[in-house]
Order: sequence, then structure tokens, then C-alpha cells
Amino acid sequence: MMCPENVKLIPCEILLRIIYKNKEGYKMDTIECIKTRMSIRKFKPEPVPKELLQEVIEAALWSPSYKNTQPWEVIIISGKKKEELSKMLVALLEKGEPMTPDIPEPKGWPEAQKRRIDDLFSSRAKQLGVDLRDPAVVKAAKIANSRFYGAPQGILLFQDDSLTPWSIFDMGLFAQSLMLAAHAKGLGTVPQAFLTDYAKQTKEFLQIPPSKRLVLGISIGYPDRDEPINQFKTNRVALSEVLKWIE
Ligand SMILES: Cc1cc2nc3c(=O)[nH]c(=O)nc-3n(C[C@H](O)[C@H](O)[C@H](O)COP(=O)(O)O)c2cc1C
Repeated sequence: MMCPENVKLIPCEILLRIIYKNKEGYKMDTIECIKTRMSIRKFKPEPVPKELLQEVIEAALWSPSYKNTQPWEVIIISGKKKEELSKMLVALLEKGEPMTPDIPEPKGWPEAQKRRIDDLFSSRAKQLGVDLRDPAVVKAAKIANSRFYGAPQGILLFQDDSLTPWSIFDMGLFAQSLMLAAHAKGLGTVPQAFLTDYAKQTKEFLQIPPSKRLVLGISIGYPDRDEPINQFKTNRVALSEVLKWIE
């Protein structure tokens, strides 16, 4: 069939977006993307295509960084290697091996943050029946973390350890861009400090030089929306608690 000259054909990609406009990942504006992202802790087993992961990481490359230093280095782990890494992390945990994080764990929290952690733990206990103040629950959570919450792929973010805390700030921006890009594409993520607990052993396993700092792990995959844990939406403090106008 001939197309009249003044009629433009809709490119296939746009046509698909129109057809699937209600499908997860399509037609999301930035504010909606920020507000609807949430940590995902149960995933469908099917792996995310490499091209899609590449697209998400490529988008995150556009994060700002101090003097455009772009201090991030990214590893994506999957398949047998991911299983082996999880096995190693669980074994270290079970043995009670001392942790070896590159960024030391906080020794305590100021009052405001303590209150917010308490609030998180209480609402999780109320909604999901699991209390993260119970050592047995913490252990189970650490094991689930070590297994990337069942995600088909895991992302590990590194940077050179000669970089200062300023560059850790950049890593946070990178991680958020990555998670928002993933969410916009219908993928789920969860940032995981737990995945950095055994940084020394993890780097040895991955053959990453000790001069690299393991900053954060992120599990990524297709969210299993039926799981109650993925229906647990955290709250935020009121704007008035954070924002002060000075005029
Ligand atoms: C730096 C960082 C480390 C985190 N580490 C973990 C972790 O190890 N395991 C986990 O399940 N969630 C972890 N989280 C997720 C937070 O618990 C979560 O972001 C927070 O409760 C807010 O919930 P939301 O992501 O659903 O909005 C981490 C988040 C950040 C930013």
C-alpha cells in the first residue's frame, strides 16, 4: 500500500510505546520516576538482556561528578560466578568471619537518624512481620543480601581508594541515576551496603586489585510484584522537617 507523501510513518519504537503505554517503565516523567522508585528485594529469575543493562549504565555515566572526575568503575556479575560469590559470602557469614569493608560501618547515628531507623524497623515489622531488631532476622536478611535477593544480575561499584570522601558523594549520584534509569525501564534495584561487608574477599574473588574501594552493591532484575516485601513502601519525613527558607 502506498503512503501519501504528507503522512509521516510513526517509528516502530514510538508505536510500541503508545501500545504499551500502561506497561511498567513507559511514559514516566522524572518526578514520578523518583517518587515511585523503591527498593526491590525479590526478583523474577529471568536475566536482564545485556543491551538493557548497558543502556542503564550508559545513562548513569551522565551523572555529575566533582570536576567531571567520573570516579566510578562498574562490575556486573551473573550466572555461575554470582552463585559462587554468594556462596563465599554466606560461608564467611556463617563462620562469623570479621568483616572487611573498605568504608567503615557507622558506629552510631545522631538522634534524628536513629528515630528514622526505628520508624523503618517498626513499620517493616508491622507490615511484614519481620523485625530487623531480632538477631535471627538480621542474619536471614544478611544471607538474602548475600544472595542478591534472588536477582539474576548484581552490580558492584568500585572506585580507586586514593580518592577522598568527595568522590564517594559522586558514587551516590551515580548509583541513584542507575537506579532511576533501571526503574524507568521497568527494572527493579536495591542498593546494598551489605554486599560490601567482605570487600577484601570479594575483590580477591573477582581479581580486583586491593587498591580499589568497593563502595556499593546493587541487585538488579525484573521485580516480582506479587511478593509482599516489594509492596512495602517506605515513608519520608515531612518537607518542613528538612527545608528552611531564608529570605
Ligand atoms: C547506601 C545504601 C545502602 C543500603 N544498604 C542496604 C542493604 O545492604 N540491604 C538492603 O536490603 N537495603 C539497603 N539499602 C536500602 C535502604 O534500606 C532503602 O533505600 C531505604 O529503606 C528507603 O527505602 P526505598 O529504597 O524503598 O525508598 C541501602 C540504601 C542505601 C542508600
